[in-house]
Amino acid sequence: MFQSSVPQFLLLLCPVAVLASTAEMLAAEMPARTPIQEVRAVGGMVVSDSEIASRIGRDVLAEGGNAVDAAVATAFALAVTWPEAGNIGGGGFMMVHPGVGKSPVCIDYREVAPRAATENMFATDNSRYKAKAVGVPGTVRGLALAHQRFGKLTWKRVVTPAAELAEHGFAVNEWLAHSTNGVLETVGVRESKRYAELRRVYGRADGRAWKVGDTMILPDLANTLRTIAEQGAAAFYQGQIADQLVAQMQHGNGLITKEDLAGYQAKLREPIRGTYREYELFGPPPPSSGGVCVVEAMNMLEPFKLREHPRFSSRNMHLITEAMRRAFCDRARYLADPDFANIPADLTTRAHAAELASNIDLDHATKSESLAPEITLAPESPNTTHFSVIDREGMAVSNTYTLEASWGSRIVVAGAGFVLNNEMGDFNWERGVTTRAGQIGTVPNLIEPGKRMLSSQSPFIVTRDGKACLLTGSPGGRTIINTVIGNLLNVLEFEMTLAEAIDAPRMHHQWFPDELRFEGSKSPEHAEAIQELQVLGHTVWHRDRQGSAHSIQVDRETGQFIGVADWRRGGAAVGTDSPTIK
Ligand code: DON
Repeated sequence: MFQSSVPQFLLLLCPVAVLASTAEMLAAEMPARTPIQEVRAVGGMVVSDSEIASRIGRDVLAEGGNAVDAAVATAFALAVTWPEAGNIGGGGFMMVHPGVGKSPVCIDYREVAPRAATENMFATDNSRYKAKAVGVPGTVRGLALAHQRFGKLTWKRVVTPAAELAEHGFAVNEWLAHSTNGVLETVGVRESKRYAELRRVYGRADGRAWKVGDTMILPDLANTLRTIAEQGAAAFYQGQIADQLVAQMQHGNGLITKEDLAGYQAKLREPIRGTYREYELFGPPPPSSGGVCVVEAMNMLEPFKLREHPRFSSRNMHLITEAMRRAFCDRARYLADPDFANIPADLTTRAHAAELASNIDLDHATKSESLAPEITLAPESPNTTHFSVIDREGMAVSNTYTLEASWGSRIVVAGAGFVLNNEMGDFNWERGVTTRAGQIGTVPNLIEPGKRMLSSQSPFIVTRDGKACLLTGSPGGRTIINTVIGNLLNVLEFEMTLAEAIDAPRMHHQWFPDELRFEGSKSPEHAEAIQELQVLGHTVWHRDRQGSAHSIQVDRETGQFIGVADWRRGGAAVGTDSPTIK
C-alpha cells in the first residue's frame, strides 16, 4: 500500500537514493476509491487483492476443493497477478479453521535468516534493497504443508492455474499498472544493474508504461510454477529453482545457500487464542506479534463497554489508542521467534491486560516513554497482501503473506521470474541502539542464523459456537495489528455490517513514534473528537489509506457468506454464486 507520507524508517535508515526513489513511487496517484460492495454466496467465497486470483480460488471451490485448496490456488495466482506482494519468494502466516468444532491451527511459513547471517550484518551497510536483505523464503513450503495437511484436490490441480496465467498472460488492471509502473520508475530501479532482471521481466517489451487492458505475460515464472506443480515444493528448495536462487545470491553477495534452502521448514503452530463477548479469536503466534498484540488490546478494551459511546467519540478513540500503545510496548519488549526468545506465557491473559490497562487515564494521554523509557520503535514500510477463503462446509482460511516492502528486495531471480523478499529488515539491526525516533535494539529480535524475524502479520479467524464467523487481516507493516483491532471492534463490539466495518476510518498508534494516525482526520464529522483528543494530549496526524482488509463474515441469520473487498486497494470478493467471466 502506498501511503501519503514517506515511511519514517526510510528517513532514518535508508540511503538517499532509496529515499528519493520511494518518494517518487509515492508521488504516482493511487487509483480512485471504489464503492464498497458486499458479495453473498452459499457455496463458498474468496476475497483477495486480485479478481483473477479470487476467481481461480472460487473455481477450485466450485470443483469440490475445500478452503485450503482454494487458498493455495489463490496464493499461487496472486504471485502472478499481484507481484508487489503475492509471492513465492517471501513468507507469511496461514490460519486454518478445519471446520465446525475443530481447532484452528496456524501454518508459520515466515522467512528465516540464512546460516551465514550475523547480528551486525547491517551495521555498516543498511540497504534493504540488496541480496543480503533476503530471508530464506517460506511460501512454497508453507502452502505445501497446508495442502498436505488439509487439501482434497491434487497439488498439481491447485498450482497449475497460476502457471497457465503466467504463460498465457492476463489483463493488467489499474492497480497492477500503478504498482508495476511505480517500481520500474523509481530512481534506483531505473538504472542499477541489480534490478536489470526486474526491468526485463516486468517491463513492457517496448519500454513504455503499462496501461489498463495490456496483457502481461511472464514466461520464466510460468516455467517455475509448472516445475513446482509437477515436482512439488522440493523443486523450489532442492531442485532447479533452488540452484537459480543460489546463483542469484552469489551474483549479488547474498547469503542464502543450498543448505539454507534445503533446511527450510514451515511449522504448524498453536494459534494465539482470545475471547471477546461471545466470540473466540484465533490469530498467529510468534514469530508474528499479530496474535498477541490484537488479543492483548481486545482484552484491555472489552471491560470499557465501548458501544455505550459513539464509535468515533474522543473517549473511545482515546481508549483504543491507549490499548494500542500498550500492546506495542509489549511487542518491543518481548516478542520474537519463540524458538530463540523466552516469551512470557501470560501476555494474552485477562490478568495481564488488566494490569496493562490499570494506568489508563480517561483524562490524559499516557506518554509512551513512561511505559518503558529505555526502548523506541521504528516504523515499517508497506507491502503485503491478505486474503480470506471459506467453503461450503465452513472450513476457513485467513492468510497474510508478504515480500516485506512493495516488490520486496526488487531482485528477481534470473531465469526464474519471481521477486525475492527483503524480510531481513524486520529484525532489530543493532543491539542496544534504540533511538527515540528510530531504530530499535532490544535483544529478543536481534539477527541470529536460522531465526525468524518478528512480524506484524495478523490473519484472524473469529468463531462463535465453534463455527468460523469472521475472517479478517491486512497488509500494512505495524498498522496491520491496528487495522485488525479496528475491524474486530467494528463487527464484534459495534455490530456494524462487514461493509461498514471495512469502510470505517482506521486508526494507528504504535507506541513510538508517540502519535495517532487517523484516516478520518480531514473529515469535518471527526473534527470535534480530534480537538478533544488533542486536549487530552494526543498528537493526531492524517493517514490517507491504512491497509487492505479483504474479509468474510458469515451471516448469522441466513448462514450466507458475505465477502467484502477493501476499497483501499481494489481487489474482489468472488463467491460460488458469482457469474463466471472467462
Ligand atoms: O511481516 C511483517 O510484519 C512485515 N514484513 C509486513 C510488511 C507489510 O505488511 C507491508 N504491507 N503493506
